[in-house]
Amino acid sequence: MEKFIVKGEVQLCGNVRISGAKNATLPIMAATLLCSGISVIHDVPYLRDIQAMQDILILLGAKIRRQGHTMLIDTSNVSKVEIPEHLMREMRASVFLMGPLLGRFRKVRLSYPGGCAIGPRPINLHIKALEKIGAIVDESFGFIDAEAKELTGGEINFDFPSVGATENAMMAAALAKGTTIIRNAAREPEIADLQAILNKMGARINGAGTDTIRVDGVARLVPAEHTVMFDRIEAGTFLTAGVMTRGDIVVENVVPEYLFSITDKLQDIGAKIITGKDYIRIKAGELRGVDIKTLPYPGFPTDLQAPMLSLVTIAKGTSIITETIFENRFKHVDELTRMGAKIKVEGRTAIIRGVEKLTGAIVAAPDLRAGSALVLAALAAEGTSEIEQVYHIERGYENIDKKMQALGANIVKL
Ligand code: UD1
Repeated sequence: MEKFIVKGEVQLCGNVRISGAKNATLPIMAATLLCSGISVIHDVPYLRDIQAMQDILILLGAKIRRQGHTMLIDTSNVSKVEIPEHLMREMRASVFLMGPLLGRFRKVRLSYPGGCAIGPRPINLHIKALEKIGAIVDESFGFIDAEAKELTGGEINFDFPSVGATENAMMAAALAKGTTIIRNAAREPEIADLQAILNKMGARINGAGTDTIRVDGVARLVPAEHTVMFDRIEAGTFLTAGVMTRGDIVVENVVPEYLFSITDKLQDIGAKIITGKDYIRIKAGELRGVDIKTLPYPGFPTDLQAPMLSLVTIAKGTSIITETIFENRFKHVDELTRMGAKIKVEGRTAIIRGVEKLTGAIVAAPDLRAGSALVLAALAAEGTSEIEQVYHIERGYENIDKKMQALGANIVKL
């Protein structure tokens, strides 16, 4: 098993180009199933989750070729509509295949994605949305069978703005006979990116990025070419790393507007920020504690809660971090405590008393984002750290070790 060895207390300096977004690429790869032919997707990151989605598409009958960061997906021979249980278990995002398979073949069979490291992850909102547009869903013996003689369009009102359920609903509704209105839709920029490629494929969707999305169903979609948007979470992680190591870094290939909730908090913590059209430069100042509550976009993203918690462990004073999206998302706390952090967790709230510095330790990445929090802590800590279970981190950060090295970090993978 691979691990990172990190010698801390090096200030990160320089420029880093942010990769294409994992959370945009996954639904976009699924969306290519809505038509027959070769779609071309640019800026696809090399990540374990992307590889897992690629394996599923191939199993369904797609042919995939990668040329650097460009992925060509040929869906001409896709005929299977059943996703094997072991692949569902490997990656929850395989639930994204429900909407496209139902849209194109009017039929899909998958098993429950089940719980995952960050807490139970139900798919009731996905199912409810598909039922609203005409699917008949049968849930028995751990399997979900969805069928639709005809997808009719309909009114979907989400109780909670689920990102995945919004995307699934958009994809299935794109090939429905009528019009679908999705209310209380998630507003994440990745949803607007999905709308962009779907419309290039011939769909008629508008409103993505707001809380109401209108989908006028069309009879047929065609392949398209698209460049995936940048990864907001990777960008936020690097910005946080810059502040935590008291460095001076520039993240490139970003849309600063999409990062406001993060840059705002980093400024509150004491960072100095200069924003350009497609870059953000960040410099550390005196760090002070802040309060953060995770929320759906445009609120503070749950995926950056762990890196930010890591940062405030060395900010002066007390910080309070409340996690409202997932139940079990404080797994980094025990590991950070080993490194000298002072944190108390009460239910969904963590209370952090800032310390002067962290010290290196042997820790293990409990999940993807908790893992990146440990990388940041190790980069700032005095002495050497070992981070085990690096494979979690590589689910969602492309070459994090090499990118950190380019900024001056002393990190190697063994
Ligand atoms: C997506 C992101 C993930 C991010 C999350 C929240 C992808 C591939 N993943 O995940 O990185 O952390 O958004 O920003 O884009 N819920 C239900 N029923 C459902 C669906 C969701 O109760 O049917 C609940 C979940 O348990 C969770 C909350 O809604 O508490 C948010 O989930 P959701 O927005 O669906 O996240 P994902 O799409 O899974």
